[in-house]
Amino acid sequence: MKRMNYQKYAAYPTVDIPVRTWPDKRITKAPIWCSVDLRDGNQALPVPMSVDEKVAMFRLLVSIGFKEIEVGFPSASATEFAFVRKLIEEKVIPEDVTIQVLTQAREHLIRRTFESIRGAKNAIVHLYNSTSRQQRDVVFRMGREEIRTIAVTGTRLVRQLKEESGNPAGIRFEYSPESFTGTELDYALEVCHAVMDAWGASADNKVILNLPSTVELSTPNIYADRIEWFCRHIANRDAAIISVHAHNDRGTAVATSELALMAGADRIEGALFGNGERCGNMDIVTMALNMLTQGIDPKLDFSDMPLIRETYRRCTRMDVHARHPYAGELVYTAFSGSHQDAISKGMKIHKLSAEGIWDVPYLPIDPQDVGCTYEAIVRINSQSGKGGIAYVLDKEYGIQIPKWMQPDFGAAVQEVADRTGEELSPEQIHELFQSAYIGIREPYALRKCNISWEDADPEANDEVATIISCTVHSPQGELVFKAKGNGPLDAFVRGMVSQTGIDFHVDEYAEHAIGHSSDALAIGYIRISSSEGHLACGSGIDSNISLASIKAIVSALNRLR
Ligand code: KIV
Ligand code: ZN
Repeated sequence: MKRMNYQKYAAYPTVDIPVRTWPDKRITKAPIWCSVDLRDGNQALPVPMSVDEKVAMFRLLVSIGFKEIEVGFPSASATEFAFVRKLIEEKVIPEDVTIQVLTQAREHLIRRTFESIRGAKNAIVHLYNSTSRQQRDVVFRMGREEIRTIAVTGTRLVRQLKEESGNPAGIRFEYSPESFTGTELDYALEVCHAVMDAWGASADNKVILNLPSTVELSTPNIYADRIEWFCRHIANRDAAIISVHAHNDRGTAVATSELALMAGADRIEGALFGNGERCGNMDIVTMALNMLTQGIDPKLDFSDMPLIRETYRRCTRMDVHARHPYAGELVYTAFSGSHQDAISKGMKIHKLSAEGIWDVPYLPIDPQDVGCTYEAIVRINSQSGKGGIAYVLDKEYGIQIPKWMQPDFGAAVQEVADRTGEELSPEQIHELFQSAYIGIREPYALRKCNISWEDADPEANDEVATIISCTVHSPQGELVFKAKGNGPLDAFVRGMVSQTGIDFHVDEYAEHAIGHSSDALAIGYIRISSSEGHLACGSGIDSNISLASIKAIVSALNRLR
């Protein structure tokens, strides 16, 4: 085996935090959410959204319930600027929604950003500069002080322009020490303190300090340690809203944000389905629905996931992976037999349960809560089992194959699935049921059947015998017979045994109505066993329940080998 060159990489430093408290904390309420779909999400797209697409995305975000939405980087391009103007001038922004605009800490860009938000009722100006050791040395070739000065100078200008804006009460301020995960903690705090001073931050004039995991460089616990450390060491905690903006380079942005919340963060930035630079921004859909599954109101509405997914696809031209948590097209689908069996049992119990607490195996969330139907939960291929097959027939066609018959039909379906290697649709499974049981007319087919009862003797307590008169097509020609028994099934079995010479008896029997209307059909299921020890299952459908069961006997006889 060839060794990968792991020596090329160095471990991320841990945090010196004597007694960390976040591991014992729980998430108990939704954070302040901020969507960055229209900025970080958009800037990572091969084809950025057009103004119209951005408007459609903005409306979607509003409908989901976001109250803070980063709408762009207006000083970066004409489209970005035009979009912010359109939102304001065409009054697209609801009263209770605050738009956020990003700017680098450079004078002309800050001024242009303020121009873009003129007339907005509520806006957050989001200023950033890179603070990491790597960016200081490699990109800016500046020392710590110079980098801190950039942040402070930018903050002062934002403060001044806010005062001059004519709407100082409507303008809030966010500062990001960009590349925070690559920044020495004490230095990040030093810059943030300087920014807070420059802003005049207080409990009544809070600054949003966004501590981005610009590049995800460590396990989420280390990031959580950094957040707890920061919250403990900040001079005036009440003067700051601690915000987290996690990217997903290690695939753990959701965990990073969740642990950061436990560690003291108040606010979470992210994007739908994790769109964003490189491996994406933290996926807000997953984080919010993770909360829902813990009985916490996420304060965001994902109850129409198909619509959200479609709008997202249309606007971003990105796909949502079929396995995407909560949202992918296959995430509520079980192909494997044991999973199907457990789901179908869980669903039955859930229907009957009075508490209404969701407790279905393999489904951490009720698909209906995110606008998905139960139809796709169980799908059939060669990995599937009899329970899943029965579930599909019941769900889609109201055919409730009894337990003792499920292995028989399961084998018939499995044979086709194995042979074709394909998934079988509910229609195909229904057709298979029809052809395996209902539609077989050889060697026997019931032509006529009349059921009557013997006159009862009013003196006697005896059971009234059933008399059956039948015509049955057979290889020996038409069998025309009359037989007597203690019920239609018994009479028919006796008649068939004497006519065909096949010695068999019924050892399992079930029936039910299909549908609830007055013209509902009945379906009968039968298992017979012959004196030679052979078993066969059959099924029959008729508007008359006795005839449905008699047809089921004929069906079973036709399958007896
Ligand atoms: O990832 C990042 O650090 C950013 C900042 C601009 C907040 O997007
Ligand atoms: Zn980012």
